[in-house]
Amino acid sequence: MAIRGVLRIGEVAVRVLDLAAAAVHYGQYIGLQEMLRENNRIYYKAWDEHDHHSVVVREADCAGLDYVAYKVHDEAVLVSFEARIKAWGLDVEKLPAGSFPRSGRRIQFQLPGGHYMQLYADKDRVGNSLPTRNPGVLPDEGVIRGMGPTRLDHVLLAGPNLAESTRFFMEALDFDLGEELIDNDTGMQLGTFLCCSNKPHDIAFILREQAGKFHHMSFYLESVNDVYHAGDIMGKHNISVEVGPTRHGITRGATIYFYDPSGNRNEVFSGGYIHYPDRPHLTWDTTQLGHAAFAIDNQPRQSFFDVVT
Ligand SMILES: [Fe+2]
Repeated sequence: MAIRGVLRIGEVAVRVLDLAAAAVHYGQYIGLQEMLRENNRIYYKAWDEHDHHSVVVREADCAGLDYVAYKVHDEAVLVSFEARIKAWGLDVEKLPAGSFPRSGRRIQFQLPGGHYMQLYADKDRVGNSLPTRNPGVLPDEGVIRGMGPTRLDHVLLAGPNLAESTRFFMEALDFDLGEELIDNDTGMQLGTFLCCSNKPHDIAFILREQAGKFHHMSFYLESVNDVYHAGDIMGKHNISVEVGPTRHGITRGATIYFYDPSGNRNEVFSGGYIHYPDRPHLTWDTTQLGHAAFAIDNQPRQSFFDVVT
């Protein structure tokens, strides 16, 4: 297996206005498993994730992103990235083991767009409830609940210095540029979609003046039918839906965008192509903005570009 650097998104931590309302949304409706509740925070995992948690919600006065954390292969890789990030020009803060529940040491740095990002190699492994010998294919009844996401898939972050953030991920963290959206007149990058694995994106950025803004976190569903099932749950519980079910031009994934009770955008996502490092990166320009974003009706939604937390 060749993926031995940054493995995947391991944790997203967001602020919510009302922890009880967030618990209904993330726990009951989306169907994440509550793993820990302490210090005004709830820690969740999706059923097929093996590490202790992947989503943290914290009650606060305003919604938005606290930090995003990516898991790297091992401690030696973490040490190597620490040096490379410093050499690239970002300040790196060391966060000792135990700073975050059930987690080994982390390093933290601020991206050119203003977001706080962490890397870590170790978090308690609790498994996905199936044995590792003769695991079968389905966990016990009740483990898959709500929309039934298998995993946290990616985040999209909004902020300035998009080209610098993109260059940082490619030069310091070995991500590939999967796709980009450029202004047709100036050639300026407006959105970039970056891969550290075989997924069509592991993190994405859109250009925005205000620093450190959160566009969405995305949960992976196994099939397009599951995306429609998730839509049924949104309808049943009057969850605020922005757009979908539809399909993205960029990444080709099936999607619905919706909001948590605090206004943080969520996505359910399924499909998309397999990325390999020798795949040419794809460019969309603003003449095809609608098709790039939503490839069935080709209509860009203003809220999609304007609403961030
Ligand atoms: Fe997404």
